[in-house]
Amino acid sequence: MNEWSPESWRARPALQQPAYPSADELKRVSAELSKLPPLVSAWEVESLKSQLAEAARGERFLLQGGNCAERFSDCDAASITGKLKILLQMSLVLVQGSKRPVIRVGRLAGQYAKPRSEDLETRGGVSLPSYRGDIVNRPGFTEADRRPDPELLLRAYERSALTLNFIRGMMKGGFADLHHPEYWDLSWMGHSPLAAEYGRIAARIAESLSFVENVLGVYASEIERVDFFTSHEGLHLTYEAAQTKRSGPAGRWYNLSTHLPWIGARTCQAGGAHVEYFRGIANPIGLKVGPAATPEMLRGLLDVLHPYDEPGRLTLIHRFGAERIADCLPPLIDAVRSSRKTVLWCCDPMHGNTRLTRGGVKTRRFADILSELEQAFDLHLAAGSRLGGVHFELTGENVTECIGGARGLSEEDLGRAYKSEVDPRLNYEQALEMAMLIARKMTAMNGG
Ligand code: PEP
Ligand code: CO
Repeated sequence: MNEWSPESWRARPALQQPAYPSADELKRVSAELSKLPPLVSAWEVESLKSQLAEAARGERFLLQGGNCAERFSDCDAASITGKLKILLQMSLVLVQGSKRPVIRVGRLAGQYAKPRSEDLETRGGVSLPSYRGDIVNRPGFTEADRRPDPELLLRAYERSALTLNFIRGMMKGGFADLHHPEYWDLSWMGHSPLAAEYGRIAARIAESLSFVENVLGVYASEIERVDFFTSHEGLHLTYEAAQTKRSGPAGRWYNLSTHLPWIGARTCQAGGAHVEYFRGIANPIGLKVGPAATPEMLRGLLDVLHPYDEPGRLTLIHRFGAERIADCLPPLIDAVRSSRKTVLWCCDPMHGNTRLTRGGVKTRRFADILSELEQAFDLHLAAGSRLGGVHFELTGENVTECIGGARGLSEEDLGRAYKSEVDPRLNYEQALEMAMLIARKMTAMNGG
């Protein structure tokens, strides 16, 4: 294989990159970006890698979640706290179900670039570049809004730094209350036929917390150092390459803009620029696999991206949809087994279950999301494999973007609080309920 450098991807076809009006301007910004200090350290990245290695061995469980696309306007205390709160609460529910420590990873502090199916969007006979996320352009439909602007790379980097700075502060303190189900919003439970069972899960969490606090005298916030890691799709390669530096104990190359970058389903071609970039970084990486991934393709990608079978290196995030997972997943599990490599399997039950309502609104049904997850647990078990994580698009806010859940949100409710510019997210209640249903499934699988 050819020699790798943070720029060697430039010799390969790079899909989903914006067409900037000025190459010089982009170069100038990228040089400025590469001088800014890293957002994360190689030691943190290595610590996540070893935790993911434990998850691949069944000793931990991964929870990854956040917005489909972060917006610059999301960089405020309430929306960051809301996301931390729901992820922390879900993780406690999952600890209860899996009886294992849970690794928390946000789609956060850098999730600003979006792949699009069309380069251009046409409205009323006018065609403009598609909105590709706040790191590239703006969602408004004017020429000025849609012109890719390199300065936004710097704005995205600064917003990521501000978000991460706030998260680090919250992790040091101010989070104790969020551990206690007494402080959770559980009013939705009463609307579900499973209310009694949900109540028992919450009570068990409260009991174990008061046991350690009252009997052992340790406060919940101190029981474990509350680790929280960041992740985003490594889509905009100029941005990713600018923050790629030699660091850490062995002086390897790391992407220091995030702990866990992943390759999206549309940019996972073995000969493409994204795979070329990702093969050379030492971070743990995610790879999305969808219905288009064949066993041959996956074997080829394992050769390039996971050549040394380094523990914790590769998380395969599968996203087939509730209707297709039973056909698509088993051949890929076989492909990994025949490669004799270890990966962490994670299920993204969101991206294969997107549909349009009769009114043309993008939504996802709670029941489809749950069905894909439950099938994922069963299919892995039946194939002698193990589902070691889950990946969600969610928010701590009370939005109405996905249909179903205890309150029975319907198509008619979508208009009330639909805020996403891209994919529909689970709201606070739906996300917490989903965690309880996963915990219920894991408990049943462990023999009740
Ligand atoms: C996403 O995670 O927002 C996304 C675009 O997913 P995928 O690459 O799996 O389609
Ligand atoms: Co999405």
